[in-house]
Amino acid sequence: HTYVIIMAGGVGTRFWPFSRNNNPKQFHDVLGTGKTLLQQTASRFEGVCPDENIYIVTSTEYYQLVKTQLPFLSDDQILLEPNRRNTAPCIAYACYKIAAKDPQATVVVAPADHIILKEEVFKEKVRLALDVASQSEVLITLGIQPTRPDTGYGYIQYLPSEGLVKKVKTFTEKPQLEIAVKFLESGDFVWNAGIFIWGVRSIIKAFEAHLPEVAEVFAEGKSDYYTDTEKGFIEKAYMLCKNISIDFGIMEKAENVFVVLSDLGWSDLGTWKSMYDISTKDEERNAADGKLMLYDTKNCIIKTPKDKLVVVQGLEGYIVAENDGVLMICKIDEEQRVRDFVADAKALG
Ligand code: GDD
Ligand code: MG
Repeated sequence: HTYVIIMAGGVGTRFWPFSRNNNPKQFHDVLGTGKTLLQQTASRFEGVCPDENIYIVTSTEYYQLVKTQLPFLSDDQILLEPNRRNTAPCIAYACYKIAAKDPQATVVVAPADHIILKEEVFKEKVRLALDVASQSEVLITLGIQPTRPDTGYGYIQYLPSEGLVKKVKTFTEKPQLEIAVKFLESGDFVWNAGIFIWGVRSIIKAFEAHLPEVAEVFAEGKSDYYTDTEKGFIEKAYMLCKNISIDFGIMEKAENVFVVLSDLGWSDLGTWKSMYDISTKDEERNAADGKLMLYDTKNCIIKTPKDKLVVVQGLEGYIVAENDGVLMICKIDEEQRVRDFVADAKALG
């Protein structure tokens, strides 16, 4: 059987002040489509697996947000993490839990905060990968044609072959800029979309081989999953569990990784700039959302509350964003400083 695991526990720091600790970006309607990123992610799997096989892994504090946005989920489908331990423990929890019920399961693991414009192509690639993963012991990821030497992604070098599912030669998570530039120039690399497809047996074997300390922790819970003792077990497990991403912990090390090249209209909505790139813009190339009066203003991202009239004159290449008591005005080109602003704002209290 097929299951979908949606990872929805990140905080989206680089999207501040829109993304906040108590309400991160995956729970927002970022593009004004009427659906939040989490809702869009869940509906992307319509027809791939039944609703009762969709699992969300998130932080305990976001339980109510998930429950409200996806009311069809039962509590057994909302996996709550007491601490943030990055994606390896998040995936281990969900996969060991599903394996306790259905050891033959094949799963798709997807982040809750991506945009995919070509939904039909996406389904086709996922189905192809599921088919292969249900028959062999492989770890499959979707690969995206890179467009810039972005250091926030995983880079996959694959062996050329006729088939649609290509053997991965190297996987390099978040390389240094000089290395990313070389990868891009060589033309042999694609970005890791962060969407994984594998049998629970295969990923459990990979955890045992490459992250045995994580495997040990979650294997312990075999008789707790789907029972009243799961919560207590998980609290203990997360206390013991180390903090590591699936990319550093497993994908870089495993020998049985394969990639399906996919042209999905994909965007990781990681930063303001990435949102600007895919937003519809006005004649002056502003991506503007709010109750606005704009004069001589171009190439800006403006996202302000609908109940506040905002007047902007003579601004070019800026982010103007207001949310929940914070107004930020920052050059788009210097958006990497948003992380520092968040840290400084925290210090300020
Ligand atoms: N439940 C849970 N718990 N979810 C988490 C946690 C956690 O501790 N940490 C992160 N997530 C969720 C995020 O909300 C996001 O949806 C997803 O897991 C991926 O985490 P990111 O922190 O956004 O990863 P990344 O963007 O730096 O890198 C990954 O994605 C890139 C593509 O977007 C990697 O897989 C890269 O290799 C890949 O290129
Ligand atoms: Mg991300």
